Amino acid sequence: MAFDVAKVLEEHRGENFTLHNEHLNPQLVRVLKTLGFDRFYVRGEGCYLYDDRGDRYLDFLAGFGVYALGRGHPALKKALHDAIDLDLPNMVQLDCALLPGLLAEQLVARAHQGIRRVYFCNSGTEATEAAIKFARRATGRTRVLFCDHGFHGLTTGSLALNGGKEFKEGFGPLLPGATQVPFGDVDALESELRKGDVAAFVAEPIQGKGVNVATADYWQSVQGLCRRYRTLFVADEVQVGMGRTGKFFAHEHYGVQPDIVTLSKALSGGYVPVGAVLCTEKVFMSVYSSIERAMVHSTTFGRNQLAMVAGLATLDVFDEQRIVEHARETGEALAASLAPLVERYEMLHAVRGKGLVVGLVFGKPESRALRVRWNAIEAMRTALFSQMVVVPLFHRHRILTQVAADNMNVVKLLPPLIAGQAEVDYFVAALDDVLRDAHRGSGLLREFGATMAKGALRRGEPKPVTASA
Ligand SMILES: Cc1ncc(COP(=O)(O)O)c(C=O)c1O
Repeated sequence: MAFDVAKVLEEHRGENFTLHNEHLNPQLVRVLKTLGFDRFYVRGEGCYLYDDRGDRYLDFLAGFGVYALGRGHPALKKALHDAIDLDLPNMVQLDCALLPGLLAEQLVARAHQGIRRVYFCNSGTEATEAAIKFARRATGRTRVLFCDHGFHGLTTGSLALNGGKEFKEGFGPLLPGATQVPFGDVDALESELRKGDVAAFVAEPIQGKGVNVATADYWQSVQGLCRRYRTLFVADEVQVGMGRTGKFFAHEHYGVQPDIVTLSKALSGGYVPVGAVLCTEKVFMSVYSSIERAMVHSTTFGRNQLAMVAGLATLDVFDEQRIVEHARETGEALAASLAPLVERYEMLHAVRGKGLVVGLVFGKPESRALRVRWNAIEAMRTALFSQMVVVPLFHRHRILTQVAADNMNVVKLLPPLIAGQAEVDYFVAALDDVLRDAHRGSGLLREFGATMAKGALRRGEPKPVTASA
């Protein structure tokens, strides 16, 4: 009998966590169970997930940003069904298929005028790896600079550019010559660039870990310095690219023109893994510099037709539904609705980010009584407060969010870009409710403690859900 996925899912309903415990990552199971995030999701549509009990969850994680168009967008589904039914000659390998050409053309058209060529791969980290290799080849140098709190993926090259220790432990030695500089610090950057041996400076225009934003002045200095010292400027747009900040590329906010731009996540609407490295003619042709080097950097599944179709359909929806403008407008509405909460609640210090990448920054309150409570919470674990927001948002209001980084009291919001006023209103009312309780000192801590399986976090395990993204 033919394989029937619906039947398989029905027959094995409820076995998720047992199977993961036995055959995949049992630590993830522990984290989810400790936080009470162990739901059996059965369906996703638009901005929402549905579990086996029929409960609906507002997804402000969007698969770490892949679901810009929400889940199950009909245009993407149709395009992919059509592509399968067309029996396209996929991955012939010794071939130049049409669809990658069309998608590359579209991406180049949306990029700044210096960007001419595209390399397709399957993920964000692969895009970073390609960027490192391309920059080394183009400059003949080896060192790569990255920022503290930077995140560019978790394979060994991109891991070397990770600005946090927690991901690196036990995996070294990593890429030699990878050097960390403080995000937003022009002088520190220049003192490294001045050595004249730096191939690339790799940075996210808005950092995912902590939702850190730098000024336009900083980015323009970065570009100026990189040009002066002949270092390539690589903008990692894997998470904040594709409209999330209210412009197609986040670096457009700062009037800069990076030599290399990486994309992934939202590019294929969450259906097919894809990554893309956009670069200048000079950089690209330094890699593919002769007929012998035609395949010097490649990957089997890069340019695969389903990813290309999903990419083209995604860009089509972006244009049809004015997704970038919509994200900007919804981002402004969200920021406007959150602003009064910063006034109202002492522990909510700021809201930062751009468009629909938002960081809720929590910190020590002014008033004494609240400070005592804050200190008690933070004494249990650094940055526990942000987890105390994420957990009741999920349990009371069925909203999925995440802590932005280890040891940082920042909650990150990455809503689908199709989110609108209804989602903004629902989220802000929920946050208001959670923060009201946190400030009143009513049952929030007790509720949190009960959910945490009593003291598991205090013992130092498992860690809060900060995730890789
Ligand atoms: C800015 C950035 N770069 C690179 C990556 C790595 O992407 P992937 O998980 O697809 O390897 C991520 C993933 O979260 C990211 O946020």
